Amino acid sequence: MISVAIDGPAGAGKSTLSRKAAKELGFIYVDTGALYRAVGLKFIRAGVDENLNCDIEKILADTKVDIRFIGGEQHVFLDDTDVNDEIRTPAASMMASAVSAKPEVRAFLLQMQRNLANENNVLMDGRDIGTVVLPNATVKIFLTASAEIRAERRYKELVEKGSEVTFEEVFEDMKKRDYNDSHRAVAPLKQADDAVLADTSALTFDESLALILSIVNERLGK
Ligand code: DC
Repeated sequence: MISVAIDGPAGAGKSTLSRKAAKELGFIYVDTGALYRAVGLKFIRAGVDENLNCDIEKILADTKVDIRFIGGEQHVFLDDTDVNDEIRTPAASMMASAVSAKPEVRAFLLQMQRNLANENNVLMDGRDIGTVVLPNATVKIFLTASAEIRAERRYKELVEKGSEVTFEEVFEDMKKRDYNDSHRAVAPLKQADDAVLADTSALTFDESLALILSIVNERLGK
Protein backbone atom coordinates (compact mmCIF):
# COMPACT_ATOMS: atom_id res chain seq x y z
CA MET A 1 0.00 0.00 0.00
CA ILE A 2 1.09 3.57 -0.64
CA SER A 3 0.85 6.12 2.14
CA VAL A 4 1.36 9.86 1.94
CA ALA A 5 1.79 11.62 5.29
CA ILE A 6 1.14 15.36 5.39
CA ASP A 7 1.85 17.15 8.65
CA GLY A 8 2.02 20.81 9.52
CA PRO A 9 0.69 23.63 11.68
CA ALA A 10 -2.87 24.92 11.83
CA GLY A 11 -3.92 27.13 8.95
CA ALA A 12 -1.39 25.89 6.37
CA GLY A 13 -4.29 24.78 4.17
CA LYS A 14 -3.53 21.13 4.91
CA SER A 15 -7.03 19.73 4.78
CA THR A 16 -8.23 21.51 1.63
CA LEU A 17 -5.00 20.73 -0.22
CA SER A 18 -4.90 17.15 1.09
CA ARG A 19 -8.48 16.40 0.05
CA LYS A 20 -7.82 17.68 -3.46
CA ALA A 21 -4.45 15.94 -3.76
CA ALA A 22 -5.93 12.62 -2.58
CA LYS A 23 -8.65 12.88 -5.21
CA GLU A 24 -6.10 13.53 -7.95
CA LEU A 25 -4.04 10.54 -6.80
CA GLY A 26 -7.07 8.27 -6.37
CA PHE A 27 -6.20 7.66 -2.71
CA ILE A 28 -8.42 7.76 0.35
CA TYR A 29 -8.11 11.03 2.27
CA VAL A 30 -7.94 10.58 6.04
CA ASP A 31 -8.32 13.75 8.12
CA THR A 32 -6.95 12.64 11.49
CA GLY A 33 -7.84 15.91 13.22
CA ALA A 34 -11.48 14.83 12.89
CA LEU A 35 -10.75 11.81 15.11
CA TYR A 36 -9.41 14.04 17.90
CA ARG A 37 -12.42 16.29 17.43
CA ALA A 38 -14.79 13.31 17.85
CA VAL A 39 -13.06 12.31 21.08
CA GLY A 40 -13.28 15.96 22.19
CA LEU A 41 -17.02 15.90 21.51
CA LYS A 42 -17.40 12.79 23.63
CA PHE A 43 -15.74 14.55 26.56
CA ILE A 44 -18.00 17.59 26.09
CA ARG A 45 -21.00 15.27 26.16
CA ALA A 46 -19.63 13.66 29.32
CA GLY A 47 -19.79 17.12 30.93
CA VAL A 48 -16.00 17.49 31.18
CA ASP A 49 -14.23 20.84 30.63
CA GLU A 50 -10.84 21.55 29.05
CA ASN A 51 -8.96 20.86 32.28
CA LEU A 52 -9.94 17.21 31.84
CA ASN A 53 -10.24 16.54 35.54
CA CYS A 54 -11.81 13.16 34.95
CA ASP A 55 -11.04 9.47 34.53
CA ILE A 56 -9.92 9.62 30.90
CA GLU A 57 -9.51 5.85 30.53
CA LYS A 58 -13.00 5.24 31.84
CA ILE A 59 -14.59 7.59 29.31
CA LEU A 60 -12.49 6.13 26.48
CA ALA A 61 -13.53 2.59 27.47
CA ASP A 62 -17.09 3.67 26.73
CA THR A 63 -16.23 5.47 23.46
CA LYS A 64 -16.41 4.20 19.90
CA VAL A 65 -14.87 6.30 17.13
CA ASP A 66 -14.79 5.11 13.57
CA ILE A 67 -14.50 6.44 10.05
CA ARG A 68 -16.81 5.52 7.21
CA PHE A 69 -16.47 6.68 3.63
CA ILE A 70 -19.73 7.97 2.19
CA GLY A 71 -19.60 8.97 -1.48
CA GLY A 72 -15.81 8.89 -1.19
CA GLU A 73 -15.85 11.43 1.68
CA GLN A 74 -14.72 10.68 5.19
CA HIS A 75 -17.44 10.77 7.86
CA VAL A 76 -16.53 10.38 11.50
CA PHE A 77 -18.87 8.38 13.68
CA LEU A 78 -18.98 8.72 17.45
CA ASP A 79 -20.79 5.88 19.16
CA ASP A 80 -22.37 4.91 15.82
CA THR A 81 -23.69 8.40 15.06
CA ASP A 82 -22.37 10.61 12.25
CA VAL A 83 -20.87 13.67 13.97
CA ASN A 84 -19.20 15.22 10.91
CA ASP A 85 -20.86 18.62 11.40
CA GLU A 86 -20.85 18.72 15.19
CA ILE A 87 -17.07 18.30 15.38
CA ARG A 88 -16.54 21.60 13.52
CA THR A 89 -17.78 23.92 16.28
CA PRO A 90 -15.31 26.17 18.19
CA ALA A 91 -16.09 24.19 21.37
CA ALA A 92 -15.14 20.91 19.70
CA SER A 93 -11.94 22.52 18.34
CA MET A 94 -10.90 23.61 21.81
CA MET A 95 -11.66 20.20 23.31
CA ALA A 96 -9.86 18.44 20.44
CA SER A 97 -6.78 20.46 21.29
CA ALA A 98 -7.07 19.56 25.00
CA VAL A 99 -7.64 15.81 24.52
CA SER A 100 -4.96 15.53 21.83
CA ALA A 101 -2.29 16.31 24.44
CA LYS A 102 -3.27 13.20 26.45
CA PRO A 103 -1.22 10.05 25.78
CA GLU A 104 -4.26 7.84 26.52
CA VAL A 105 -6.21 9.56 23.74
CA ARG A 106 -3.35 9.32 21.25
CA ALA A 107 -2.94 5.62 22.02
CA PHE A 108 -6.70 5.12 21.66
CA LEU A 109 -6.65 6.49 18.09
CA LEU A 110 -3.31 5.09 16.91
CA GLN A 111 -4.25 1.62 15.70
CA MET A 112 -7.27 2.80 13.75
CA GLN A 113 -5.08 5.20 11.78
CA ARG A 114 -2.51 2.49 11.10
CA ASN A 115 -5.20 0.02 10.02
CA LEU A 116 -6.57 2.49 7.48
CA ALA A 117 -3.09 2.84 5.97
CA ASN A 118 -2.54 -0.93 5.98
CA GLU A 119 -5.73 -1.56 4.05
CA ASN A 120 -5.82 1.36 1.58
CA ASN A 121 -3.67 3.73 -0.41
CA VAL A 122 -4.02 6.78 1.82
CA LEU A 123 -3.17 10.40 2.02
CA MET A 124 -3.34 11.13 5.73
CA ASP A 125 -2.99 14.56 7.28
CA GLY A 126 -2.35 15.58 10.87
CA ARG A 127 0.46 16.62 13.19
CA ASP A 128 2.34 13.37 13.88
CA ILE A 129 1.62 11.16 10.87
CA GLY A 130 5.18 11.08 9.51
CA THR A 131 6.79 10.96 12.95
CA VAL A 132 4.58 8.58 14.95
CA VAL A 133 1.58 7.11 13.13
CA LEU A 134 3.25 6.07 9.86
CA PRO A 135 7.01 6.29 10.38
CA ASN A 136 7.45 4.20 7.21
CA ALA A 137 5.12 6.27 5.04
CA THR A 138 6.02 6.15 1.35
CA VAL A 139 6.06 9.96 1.12
CA LYS A 140 6.25 12.50 3.93
CA ILE A 141 5.51 16.17 3.46
CA PHE A 142 5.73 18.91 6.06
CA LEU A 143 3.35 21.58 4.82
CA THR A 144 3.76 25.01 6.25
CA ALA A 145 3.62 28.76 5.65
CA SER A 146 4.74 31.66 7.81
CA ALA A 147 2.52 32.36 10.84
CA GLU A 148 1.66 35.77 9.39
CA ILE A 149 0.52 34.34 6.06
CA ARG A 150 -1.48 31.57 7.75
CA ALA A 151 -3.13 34.16 10.01
CA GLU A 152 -3.90 36.35 6.99
CA ARG A 153 -5.59 33.46 5.16
CA ARG A 154 -7.58 32.49 8.26
CA TYR A 155 -8.54 36.14 8.88
CA LYS A 156 -9.91 36.52 5.33
CA GLU A 157 -11.89 33.28 5.71
CA LEU A 158 -13.42 34.46 9.01
CA VAL A 159 -14.29 37.92 7.67
CA GLU A 160 -15.98 36.33 4.65
CA LYS A 161 -18.10 34.30 7.06
CA GLY A 162 -19.18 37.54 8.76
CA SER A 163 -16.97 37.28 11.83
CA GLU A 164 -15.79 40.54 13.44
CA VAL A 165 -12.33 39.50 14.53
CA THR A 166 -9.23 41.66 14.06
CA PHE A 167 -6.12 40.46 12.25
CA GLU A 168 -4.10 40.86 15.46
CA GLU A 169 -6.45 38.52 17.34
CA VAL A 170 -6.17 35.85 14.66
CA PHE A 171 -2.39 36.26 14.46
CA GLU A 172 -1.95 35.97 18.25
CA ASP A 173 -4.23 32.91 18.33
CA MET A 174 -2.22 31.30 15.53
CA LYS A 175 1.07 31.84 17.36
CA LYS A 176 -0.39 30.45 20.58
CA ARG A 177 -1.65 27.31 18.84
CA ASP A 178 1.68 26.82 17.09
CA TYR A 179 3.40 27.00 20.45
CA ASN A 180 0.99 24.55 22.11
CA ASP A 181 1.14 22.07 19.24
CA SER A 182 4.91 22.04 19.04
CA HIS A 183 5.66 22.07 22.78
CA ARG A 184 3.34 19.37 24.10
CA ALA A 185 5.10 16.39 25.65
CA VAL A 186 3.43 13.69 23.52
CA ALA A 187 3.77 13.56 19.73
CA PRO A 188 4.54 17.27 19.29
CA LEU A 189 4.31 18.85 15.87
CA LYS A 190 7.70 18.59 14.19
CA GLN A 191 9.04 17.85 10.77
CA ALA A 192 10.14 14.23 10.36
CA ASP A 193 13.81 13.91 9.38
CA ASP A 194 12.86 12.36 6.06
CA ALA A 195 9.94 14.70 5.26
CA VAL A 196 10.05 17.12 2.35
CA LEU A 197 9.36 20.70 3.43
CA ALA A 198 6.65 22.43 1.39
CA ASP A 199 6.42 26.12 2.27
CA THR A 200 3.36 27.66 0.64
CA SER A 201 3.91 31.22 1.94
CA ALA A 202 4.47 32.60 -1.56
CA LEU A 203 2.24 30.14 -3.43
CA THR A 204 -1.38 30.22 -4.56
CA PHE A 205 -3.67 27.26 -3.84
CA ASP A 206 -3.13 25.79 -7.31
CA GLU A 207 0.63 26.20 -7.05
CA SER A 208 0.60 24.54 -3.62
CA LEU A 209 -1.41 21.63 -4.99
CA ALA A 210 0.97 21.24 -7.92
CA LEU A 211 3.92 21.25 -5.49
CA ILE A 212 2.40 18.49 -3.35
CA LEU A 213 1.57 16.36 -6.38
CA SER A 214 5.04 16.82 -7.81
CA ILE A 215 6.67 15.75 -4.52
CA VAL A 216 4.45 12.65 -4.35
CA ASN A 217 4.90 11.72 -8.01
CA GLU A 218 8.64 12.18 -7.84
CA ARG A 219 8.83 9.83 -4.83
CA LEU A 220 6.64 7.33 -6.61
CA GLY A 221 8.91 7.53 -9.64
CA LYS A 222 6.13 8.87 -11.89
O1 DC B 1 -6.41 19.63 12.22
P1 DC B 1 -7.54 19.92 13.21
O2 DC B 1 -7.69 21.38 13.57
O3 DC B 1 -8.86 19.32 12.81
O4 DC B 1 -7.09 19.17 14.55
C1 DC B 1 -7.84 19.23 15.72
C2 DC B 1 -6.90 19.08 16.92
O5 DC B 1 -6.35 17.78 16.97
C3 DC B 1 -5.73 20.07 16.91
O6 DC B 1 -5.69 20.72 18.17
C4 DC B 1 -4.49 19.22 16.74
C5 DC B 1 -4.92 17.84 17.10
N1 DC B 1 -4.35 16.82 16.23
C6 DC B 1 -3.30 16.08 16.70
O7 DC B 1 -2.86 16.31 17.83
N2 DC B 1 -2.78 15.08 15.94
C7 DC B 1 -3.24 14.83 14.71
N3 DC B 1 -2.70 13.85 13.98
C8 DC B 1 -4.30 15.61 14.19
C9 DC B 1 -4.83 16.61 14.98
